[in-house]
Amino acid sequence: MEVAWNARYNTGIQIVDEQHQELFQIVDRLRRMVQDGADRAGIEALLEVLVACTERHFATEEAFMAKVGYPDLGSHLDEHASMLTSLQELLAKFQESHQAMALMVPTFMEGWLKHHISDGDFGFVTFLKARNLA
Ligand SMILES: [Fe+2]
Ligand SMILES: [Fe+2]
Repeated sequence: MEVAWNARYNTGIQIVDEQHQELFQIVDRLRRMVQDGADRAGIEALLEVLVACTERHFATEEAFMAKVGYPDLGSHLDEHASMLTSLQELLAKFQESHQAMALMVPTFMEGWLKHHISDGDFGFVTFLKARNLA
């Protein structure tokens, strides 16, 4: 099933929403590649793109949060760091054993991405709205 961005993930912060949409697109592309039996090198290259886009996205959010003095920045930074670690571990496991990992990559990623937005980013949006910053 398609891994798609949905209006319920809308934060109202344009750059954040664009980056979330891009991450969903990459994850869905990965899902299709795995489903179509794409070769290992292609999947691995796209996983590396996903890591890079995730790092860029987290840096964007963190800079914004720091700029407006978000009080939960510390815990959000921890959350980002642990999400990036899980993603890097997944990439490392994939490099070890391509077959088994290829099957779980899209499922893992979809849950990982939804969790990031629903449980993490919305706390920031609530903060911005309370201060009329968004
Ligand atoms: Fe985010
Ligand atoms: Fe975040």
